[in-house]
Amino acid sequence: LKDSRESLMIVSSFAQKFFTRYLWEENEGRTIGLGYFRERSFRDDILKKFEVGFAPDGKTPFTEAAQRQGYKLDFLEKTGLTIKRDDWLRDRFAGRVMFPIHNLAGRVIAFGGRILTNDKKTAKYLNSPESDIYHKSRVLYGIYQAKREMTRTDKCYLVEGYTDVMSLHQVGIENVVASSGTSLTPDQIRMVRRFTPNITIIYDGDAAGIKASLRGIDMVLEEGMNVKVLPLPDGEDPDSFAKKMGASGFQEYIEQNETDFIQFKTRLLLKSTENDPVAKARLISDVIRSVSVIPDSITRSVYIKECSRLLGVDEEVLYTEVRKQKHQQT
Ligand code: CTP
Ligand code: MN
Ligand code: MN
Ligand code: MN
Ligand code: MN
Repeated sequence: LKDSRESLMIVSSFAQKFFTRYLWEENEGRTIGLGYFRERSFRDDILKKFEVGFAPDGKTPFTEAAQRQGYKLDFLEKTGLTIKRDDWLRDRFAGRVMFPIHNLAGRVIAFGGRILTNDKKTAKYLNSPESDIYHKSRVLYGIYQAKREMTRTDKCYLVEGYTDVMSLHQVGIENVVASSGTSLTPDQIRMVRRFTPNITIIYDGDAAGIKASLRGIDMVLEEGMNVKVLPLPDGEDPDSFAKKMGASGFQEYIEQNETDFIQFKTRLLLKSTENDPVAKARLISDVIRSVSVIPDSITRSVYIKECSRLLGVDEEVLYTEVRKQKHQQT
């Protein structure tokens, strides 16, 4: 098994180098792929840092090149780079710009491939299937490129997508990883915890992003870590917003808008409750539910003070509620 995992990583590394060379050196890659990244204002140094590439269009140009180099079809199939049916073969990622996914050690273990249009019929991103080297729920995009800076700054930004990670690097923020659109898992959070206990969630400024932030908050708290949120304007994601604001504008926005999770939740929920006492009671119990999952009692008490102030409810009442909620969780 160890040998076969190594073989899958060797094939993946070959594929990354092939796609990267194709992007920079072949006509099709330069025109379509590089043209696409430049259209989106990505700098060359960022494209190189993330080792992005382009997969040639056609039925099997990649598979054929790989086989000519001696790579076995078995491994091409197991990494999902080649799709094999009884009597035919096909390149999985043909005609897409390629985002390699690296493990902590910097080895390529999977890919995301994006179509170049915004046509709603085809899935925008296609990802490698699970394999012996790629378990989606245990991987964070950008972790290899982020780890040094996560340690240095003792902080990690969490975004949704590939281009969000790249764009933050482009404005000088390198302690950033992406959950890649799936909901956050305990394994992913524990991977961040190896470097820092402080996470700030910057998800897309749409209804889905807000919902995912609320789920993410509780997940991070359950692992005993600290969580903040940076809400973005409606319709923006970290990529679009960083490009709109520029480096200093984005930094300034962070300084002014980063909020602790209690404030984020209460503000969000207060908007929908107004002066309705029943709704307000539900809001309090919702915020308290997040507080009650925090393992450390001192941290819990700090947040209870903050809740008490923001919601205008006696601390003792909140403690009683926390005890009730904890009781229900066990
Ligand atoms: N995603 C995916 N498959 C899809 C759509 C999204 O795997 N069909 C993942 C990708 O990792 C993507 C992330 O979810 O980066 C966030 O999705 P979305 O916000 O829709 O895409 P963006 O990252 O904003 O992509 P882009 O800016 O290129 O449109
Ligand atoms: Mn396995
Ligand atoms: Mn989105
Ligand atoms: Mn997005
Ligand atoms: Mn985007």
